[in-house]
Order: sequence, then C-alpha cells, then structure tokens
Amino acid sequence: MTRKEFLAQMGIGATGALMVACLGGCSKASNPAPVPVNFTLDLNLPANAALGQNGGYVYSNGVIVAKTMSGNLIAVSQACTHQGVTVVYDNQNNVFFCSAHGSAFNTSGAVVNGPANSPLRQYTVSTSGNIVTITG
Ligand code: FES
Repeated sequence: MTRKEFLAQMGIGATGALMVACLGGCSKASNPAPVPVNFTLDLNLPANAALGQNGGYVYSNGVIVAKTMSGNLIAVSQACTHQGVTVVYDNQNNVFFCSAHGSAFNTSGAVVNGPANSPLRQYTVSTSGNIVTITG
C-alpha cells in the first residue's frame, strides 16, 4: 500500500496529510521551555577548558556557559527561543547568536535581534575555586 493509498483509506486528503506532517515540526513552539537547573562545572576538567580563557564557552544541561572578554561567567538557556536551534557565544559582539535565522540575545538573554521574540532564560553563576555552579 502506498502512502497515498493509506491516506485515502484513512480519509485524509492532501491538506490532512500536510497537517499530520506538521504536527511534530511546523510549530514555532517546538523548542522546549528551559527548565530550572542546578549543576556544577569543574574548571579542571578538559571538557570545561574553554572557560579558562576569555571568550570561551561550553554547553551543559541545556545551558550555554560563557566567559566574556572581560572575564565574567554568564549562563543562559542554549536553545534559541525562535525554533530551538543551539546558540553560540559571539565574544566579539558579546551576544549569544543563533545562526539559523540570525537571532541575537544579550548577556542577560534579552532579544537584541529577531526573529526570536522572547528571551533566553538567564541563570545565576557563582564560582568557588575551580567549581562553577549554575542555578536558576
Ligand atoms: S531558530 Fe534561532 S533564529 Fe530561528
């Protein structure tokens, strides 16, 4: 049985097939809402070495943790609020940038360039020795 025959048998025409196909992927709300987090990063681990230099960043637990060019650690949710693509930290412009459609967010997660229209979730970062704690 072909897909067309299957859909015809189910009483679903071309429009219905499109609707079915879009249920999982056409919504702008397809990116999950950022959840509260509470985790640590050990700066001694190689996986977190990027945070040892200004401008570096890492991902963990759905969060992007970055070290600004002035040496401050900041953290926001890593999924762009437009359609969920992972953002990067653009250390030259001091923004989180999504290459999918060009959205940019400031270091607090606020939108500075669309199409995203809601902010990234900002997390609190504290440091004790080589342990960085991200909460919020
Ligand atoms: S998914 Fe980020 S700008 Fe569209």
